[in-house]
Amino acid sequence: MFPILKKTELVPNIFEMVVHHPRLAEKADPGHFVIVMVSESGERIPLTVADFDRDAGTITLVIMAIGVSTKKLCSLNTGDSLFALIGPLGHASKIENFGTAVMVAGGVGTAPIFPIARKLREYSNHVISIQGARNKDLLFWTDKLAAVSDEHIITTDDGSAGRKGIVTEPLKELLETQREKIGCVYTIGPAIMMKFCAETCRRYNVRAIASLNSVMIDGTGMCGGCRVKINNETKFTCVDGPEFDALAVDWDGVLARHKMYCNEEKCALERMETSRRRL
Ligand code: FES
Repeated sequence: MFPILKKTELVPNIFEMVVHHPRLAEKADPGHFVIVMVSESGERIPLTVADFDRDAGTITLVIMAIGVSTKKLCSLNTGDSLFALIGPLGHASKIENFGTAVMVAGGVGTAPIFPIARKLREYSNHVISIQGARNKDLLFWTDKLAAVSDEHIITTDDGSAGRKGIVTEPLKELLETQREKIGCVYTIGPAIMMKFCAETCRRYNVRAIASLNSVMIDGTGMCGGCRVKINNETKFTCVDGPEFDALAVDWDGVLARHKMYCNEEKCALERMETSRRRL
C-alpha cells in the first residue's frame, strides 16, 4: 500500500497527489509513466509522472477526474493509500542540448511537461513554454512551469488569461521567427492538439516529440491495447513509448482509438451515479 501524503484540487476536476514510494522515486525520470490501482479489483490507470522527490521518496501525480476509475482515484484523500503503484514504466525522455526547446502543453498535459522542461533547462537549453487551457480557471502550475522556462506563454480559448487563442498560434510564430534556433518541440495534451502541433512543425521541418496517452490495460506490452502506428509500423505505447516522433504518429488512428470505448465509459459512469444515488 502506498500512502497519499498530500492531495490538492488544483482546478475543478484536476487533482495533485503526492504519494510515498521511495523505490519508484529513486528510479523515476521525466517522461516515465506509472500504473495506479485504487483497489485490488480496480482498473489499472496509467499516469505520466508529474514530479518526483528522491530525498523525500515521493512521486507527484496529476489526475483529471473524468471516468469511473479516475473519479474513484480522486475521491481518495490525504492519509488514504493506493492499492498499487507500479513503475517507472516506458522510456524516459531523451534529453539533450537542442539549443532552443519549445514545450507545448494543453490542459492536464502541463503536469508531465513540467519535469521535461526542468531537465531540458538543466541541459542548458533555452526553454520556451506555451501553456494552453480553455479558460483561466483551468490553468494550473503556471508558476512552476514559468520557473523552469526562459519564456512562458499562456493561451486561453476565451482570452481570460494570456493571449486569446490556441497553442499552435504562438508555436507557428516562434517557428516563423526562430526556426533556425529551435531544435525540438515537445507536445503533451489532448490528442487533437498534439496532432496540430505536429502538423505545424512538419511545415517548418522541425523535430517534434509527443507523449501519447493511449488506452492501456497491462502496461507491459502483452495486451496490445495501447497500440499505435508509427511510420506505419505497429508500436506499443507502454513499452515503446510513451514518447514518439510526433511527425510519424498516425494521429487519426490515435483519435479513433480514443473514441473506441466512449459508450462503455458513459455506461460505467451512469452505473456509478445510479448506485451513488441509491446509497
Ligand atoms: S497496455 Fe497492453 S500492450 Fe501496452
